[in-house]
Amino acid sequence: MQRTDADIAEILVSADAIAARVRELADAICRDYPASIPSGERDSRGLVIVPVLTGAFMFLADLVRHLPQRIRIEVVAVSSYPGAHIVSKGAALVGVLPDDLEGCDVLILDDILDSGQTLGLLQDEIARRSPRSLRTCVLLRKRCQRLRVVDVDYVGFEIPDAFVVGYGLDYDGFFRNLPFVAVLRLEGSQGASA
Ligand code: IMP
Ligand code: MG
Repeated sequence: MQRTDADIAEILVSADAIAARVRELADAICRDYPASIPSGERDSRGLVIVPVLTGAFMFLADLVRHLPQRIRIEVVAVSSYPGAHIVSKGAALVGVLPDDLEGCDVLILDDILDSGQTLGLLQDEIARRSPRSLRTCVLLRKRCQRLRVVDVDYVGFEIPDAFVVGYGLDYDGFFRNLPFVAVLRLEGSQGASA
């Protein structure tokens, strides 16, 4: 079996730290959406979580297991780093968003906020569908210059401006399975896909 250790420069966020923070984020989300809890008043069309694939898949799976609410999950895909690149090439929606988001509480979920293009695009597209509320949650926020300023409501970790992999994040399709977030050792290579 090929090992990945040689590709990792440094573990930035451990699996334990992620697990603890995901629970805290879930607690904050529960506090903000009390009407969506089963015993509560069902006065809205419910909480719709919109995870951005592929990167958010692990974060999604861990987070929703801490949410007792009545929720819908509607995945979207946004292509931002097609092929082997580590510099943003812009964002494009892949597929279509559900057309019944009007009156819903929508929570976008993504792995990382980098240039801001992906979340900016999604926020615009979802806002046009007249949700009752729209919030955004990211596991990681890079400290970097953004091409687009994007408001996020829940942030797991602020990280330095480095290319990271693991816990859903990839380099050219690989490393998504790592249970931690790590800085990739880049040796003349260059790549990730959304
Ligand atoms: P943005 O549009 O530049 O904010 O990028 C958002 C998307 O790019 C994320 O959802 C990730 O899929 C991908 N991305 C951004 N930074 C990284 C990184 O450091 N490693 C892996 N993927 C990244
Ligand atoms: Mg992504």
